[in-house]
Amino acid sequence: MTSVELRQKYLKFFQGRDHKIIPSASLIPSEEVELAGTERVLFTTAGMHPLIPYLMGKSHSEGTRLVNVQKCLRTDDIDEVGDAVHNTFFEMLGNWSLGDYWKEEAITWSYEFMVNELKLDSKRIYVSVFAGDNDAPFDQQSYDTWIKVGIPEDHIFKYGKEDNWWPTGGEKPGPQGPDTEMFYDLDPRSKSPIDPSANSQRFVEIWNDVFMEYERQADGSYTPLKQRNVDTGMGLERMLTVLQKAPSIYETDVFLPLMKKIEDMTDFFSDSSARIVADHIRAAVFLISDGVSPSNVERGYILRRLIRRTIRHASLLKIDQNFLSEFSKVVIKTYENIYPDLVEHQQLISTELQKEEQKFKNALAQGLKNFEKISGNISGQQAFDLYQNFGFPIELTAELAKEKNKKVDLNDFEKLLKVHQNLSKSQSQKTKGGLAVQSDIAARYHTATHLMHQALRDELGSHVHQTGSHITNERLRFDFSHDAKLTDQQIQKVEKIVNEKIKKNLPVHKKSLPKEIADEIGAIGLFREKYGDLVNIYYIGESDDPKIAYSKEFCGGPHAKSTGEIGDFKIIKEESAGSGIRRIYATIKS
Ligand code: ALA
Repeated sequence: MTSVELRQKYLKFFQGRDHKIIPSASLIPSEEVELAGTERVLFTTAGMHPLIPYLMGKSHSEGTRLVNVQKCLRTDDIDEVGDAVHNTFFEMLGNWSLGDYWKEEAITWSYEFMVNELKLDSKRIYVSVFAGDNDAPFDQQSYDTWIKVGIPEDHIFKYGKEDNWWPTGGEKPGPQGPDTEMFYDLDPRSKSPIDPSANSQRFVEIWNDVFMEYERQADGSYTPLKQRNVDTGMGLERMLTVLQKAPSIYETDVFLPLMKKIEDMTDFFSDSSARIVADHIRAAVFLISDGVSPSNVERGYILRRLIRRTIRHASLLKIDQNFLSEFSKVVIKTYENIYPDLVEHQQLISTELQKEEQKFKNALAQGLKNFEKISGNISGQQAFDLYQNFGFPIELTAELAKEKNKKVDLNDFEKLLKVHQNLSKSQSQKTKGGLAVQSDIAARYHTATHLMHQALRDELGSHVHQTGSHITNERLRFDFSHDAKLTDQQIQKVEKIVNEKIKKNLPVHKKSLPKEIADEIGAIGLFREKYGDLVNIYYIGESDDPKIAYSKEFCGGPHAKSTGEIGDFKIIKEESAGSGIRRIYATIKS
């Protein structure tokens, strides 16, 4: 079965069960999704991600049963790319119930799709269910449903939150719940242990049905969600590996043309380098098409690292001519009928890749020479020099070091990087768990937005409410209710108030409060309905009592620690954004 057939079969199967097909969202989360959790996530990491507002109760225009194929990007497994089953970019097939059907339908349909449509051997299917803990009980209903559809008891495993909970481990706030995972036995004659979660050589995880009935709060407690949802995810590439009896995802039809191209260009074939090249260039093509360009911050930096790693592994394969643009064409050809926007952006993709290739290649050769000169282990300072002078991402240095059996002082490198970032007050970023990145600059803009919101209310009146907001690394944009153009004096006054608050270097505090109390103390903001019973507010003021704070808003953050971090605030434009709505663009400068 080809990838085209698998996508079609899946969508059709659920369409036949009253699901509406929705398009894949961008790899870049919308602002609404970014702010729905308490942590920013740089990329769409699962099919459910663009649906978070709807899982939390917002009504979806297509109804309560949805199905799609979603583009996803995860960088937390990047070190495993090169093995048989890991990717950064991948596609996820998913079906959802938004407060509609529940466990029995979801599991029965998963089973029917695998066995009747994909013709998987039912004897080779293993499943796992949530074993239960202090937060939630053993998932009896899923267990019983698996028995009912015909999975024997000894093919059902019970695991804890680390395996049978989504998001994995359940440590972050947001909608979540127990899940049931489906595995396929790749080698039924093997004598190796039958423990699907632990034995990834023998068992491949192919599908996950999540039963989202809880919302984890910022304080770690669980409250029931407004509605019980089903969220499922099947990795397209993994399922293709099973269906096409391929030894790895790179031998399935979504990768074969690209792998062939790579093989044609090298006499030094190495599985893992070729796979890294194939994975990363595919991810880069999709990222550029969705609007990311290489840079030193946030998404742009992830893209830059993917491209630089591609170049480096291509050089290990002795592919030295400019090749990225050519490879990108093979990727686009493979997906042209599924994602026509790739064809539309072909020129842009090609140009961005060529530019970055040129930039890095010059530096790479020089940097490698310097690297070779280092005797013994690599100090933090040496790694930092490679980063600073030759644009070597730290994982590149770490990889080179590993090949030579050397160690890198990562701690020291991190320290130097911090000092450098503080010194130059450059846009810095912190990475946590691979993907959740809070950039300094975005946090500063967030805090500036809160101050301006309050300053506008001071100056224009309390009818001013936020109707929209958008932050980039270059500016903030803020929409609010007000029915007249602002005068120059008003604009200057607002700027003045904000800059005064910045000069005072007021601390920014965060508190989780019951919604009624937050309302009582006058917290403002757009996103209050998303946070359930306990709400997060950020407040800015000398005292740590939110009641007397200057600004208090419902918000997911991130924010600066104090207003002094913001820098000079300047309004650069004021205009209409519709009837009764004004729009302000403003910048901050260190
Ligand atoms: N959101 C679930 C996953 O990604 C389905 O595994």
